[in-house]
Amino acid sequence: MSLLPILLADNPIIRQKSKRIKGIDNQLQKLIEDMIDTMDGNHGVGLAAPQVGALRRVIVIRLPKENESEEENDPIVLINPEVVKKDGERNVEEGCLSIPGWRGEVTRSFTVTVKGLNRDGKPLRINKVTGLLAQALEHEIDHLNGVLFVDHLVSPDRLWKYPKAEEEGEEEIVEVAEAKGGL
Ligand code: NI
Repeated sequence: MSLLPILLADNPIIRQKSKRIKGIDNQLQKLIEDMIDTMDGNHGVGLAAPQVGALRRVIVIRLPKENESEEENDPIVLINPEVVKKDGERNVEEGCLSIPGWRGEVTRSFTVTVKGLNRDGKPLRINKVTGLLAQALEHEIDHLNGVLFVDHLVSPDRLWKYPKAEEEGEEEIVEVAEAKGGL
């Protein structure tokens, strides 16, 4: 199990466009394994390769189980994923492992259809999905184009600290950070 460091949004790599993957080799499989470990180890729903410093078009998603008694959902791995169709709009709350401690309200599609390759290189199409899976697919594919959820905020003031400072006793830390020139 390898947890990789997650790059934060102020790292210029996060804003770069990732390259298409041409061949599936052991190095890519290792990256995928490490991405799944890193996502799970940080309680994330999804992770894109540039977040661990690899500018390659691969994403992983693992939907949380709906109740404790269920088995873990299998991770979804998509190589060279593309949104081929999207319909409708909805506003949803979102966060990102590269922007820890913040959440915002963003506009996302209501349904999305995504195609790509699975980790064995076989075509994989995820048809007309909704809910958290649709949101995660759009969010992670955005990462491959250097786009972050804060680019989709419904308005600039719909971004908030999370969890609330009083819940975590973070108030003092925030003050110290501000005194040093902002977060
Ligand atoms: Ni993210």
